[in-house]
Amino acid sequence: MSILSFITKSRVWRSFFRHGWPNNPLDRSLVMTTNVFFHLHPVKVNLKSLRAAYSFGLGILTVVTFLSLVATGTMLMFNYVPSVERAYPDIVNLQNLVPFGQLFRNLHRWGAHLMVLTCVLHMARVFYTGAYKPPREFNWVVGVVLLILTLGGSFTGYLLPWDQLAYWAITVGTSIASYEPVAGVVIKKILLGGPEVGQASLTRFYGLHIMVIPALLVLLISLHLWRVRKDGGLAANDLDQPAEGARS
Ligand code: HEM
Repeated sequence: MSILSFITKSRVWRSFFRHGWPNNPLDRSLVMTTNVFFHLHPVKVNLKSLRAAYSFGLGILTVVTFLSLVATGTMLMFNYVPSVERAYPDIVNLQNLVPFGQLFRNLHRWGAHLMVLTCVLHMARVFYTGAYKPPREFNWVVGVVLLILTLGGSFTGYLLPWDQLAYWAITVGTSIASYEPVAGVVIKKILLGGPEVGQASLTRFYGLHIMVIPALLVLLISLHLWRVRKDGGLAANDLDQPAEGARS
């Protein structure tokens, strides 16, 4: 028995991989269906939906950017305390003293801009390919909530450096929100935790930025990708299907 077959037949290996080498249709299907990450993909896909120029991979790019933001944001959290006394000096130290601090800060900042850009371009692509039409209208609505959360992540992150730019940007931003009819004043109060930007606002923005918004993004991105599968893959697949016929 060769070493390779000894390893692949061992109990340890079989407990991880419950299928044979993927050189036949059954094992190829099992590779996808028995892996929590792969099973997001269908076992078979239409060649048309794989054309790079169809989606430009903008949805996936948004996912990857989000994951990079989680990674770089976690690194920043190790060196940041969300208090009005500590926040600004922590950021200055991060820029000047912490090894790779400036790199991680810039990756996080540029990543945030990139995620907004790819998300908006992805929405435009979905619109121009008509992929918002039934049966994908629910996923379009999930997408709109994802866009709002993405913008919310940028907005709440803006206050955290606690410099003049942050302070006045959030003062202006929340003042604009207060002009929203009916609930405007309440929204401003909830966001700031008081009449003006202060410690309560910093605590709330931090909580929203590092916990609430990322958790909702993870939840809704999972729902969004699951719906892509349930709606029959990308809309490009429909070119080979009868016109009507909404699927489950
Ligand atoms: C955090 C933001 C978002 C992420 C991570 C995301 C991710 C994805 C991914 C990975 C796909 C598979 C196809 C592709 O890569 O283009 C997809 C498809 C789709 N997305 Fe998004 N998306 C986001 C925001 C949006 C927004 C803002 C909209 C619209 C308002 C939207 C509507 C859709 C629809 C309708 C589809 C199915 C497209 C088709 O069948 O061709 N998504 N999304």
